[in-house]
Amino acid sequence: MTSKIPSANGRISIAPSILSADLWQLGNEVGRMEKAGADWLHVDIMDGHFVPNLSFGPALVRSLSGKTTLPLDVHLMVENPIPFLEPFTKAGADLLTVHAEANGNLSDALAQIHRLGVKAGVSIKPQTDPQVIAPVLDQVDLILIMSVHPGFGGQSFLPDSPQRIEQVRKLIQSCNRPIWLEVDGGINIQTAHLVVQAGANALVAGNAIFSAEDPVLALNQIRQAVSGK
Ligand code: DX5
Ligand code: ZN
Repeated sequence: MTSKIPSANGRISIAPSILSADLWQLGNEVGRMEKAGADWLHVDIMDGHFVPNLSFGPALVRSLSGKTTLPLDVHLMVENPIPFLEPFTKAGADLLTVHAEANGNLSDALAQIHRLGVKAGVSIKPQTDPQVIAPVLDQVDLILIMSVHPGFGGQSFLPDSPQRIEQVRKLIQSCNRPIWLEVDGGINIQTAHLVVQAGANALVAGNAIFSAEDPVLALNQIRQAVSGK
């Protein structure tokens, strides 16, 4: 298995979240995101335990993989991620992000993701102290800061998120390795520049893109809002 996601490289990546896409039109929606210059596709996996919602599984990742040229950024909002790492990798995930609050040993989960040959991320919920990431900094390619309580698309951005992002940016600077700093939840034209100014370089956006009248324009406007920041 290999990953189509590069190491963090100074570019700002935009990852549309298909949680808000019209699933009837999924192929067309993803095709439009490719043409619009999206960097990755964000796929939210929910188990009804870690978060109060259900979403997708490896079968959807398999359907996307090989059809879309976009790397698949898979966000595991599940209580027990370890048994699912191999199925999602085999299905074609390019990056697997596990939550620090999930069950099982975090360091073991990250090591297993790398053994499977893809990039590894760790995510924290809004109420988790960013310092929990410090012990695994050497093992991650991406840190995902939730800027809403995970579980649903279309929620409002939590205003203390930029401060948390700044804290994580400092952690990343202390370790001297390229690590993506991704933010997920309530990202739109108004909030995108706040998180980039705070140090984020990867933005997930669901509702702001897929619920817009013109999703391509919405993605371009978010890109515009952060270009040169
Ligand atoms: C929420 C998910 C997000 C969601 C973001 O739990 O992790 O990826 O799709 O949606 P918006 O951009 O609508 O807040
Ligand atoms: Zn997500």
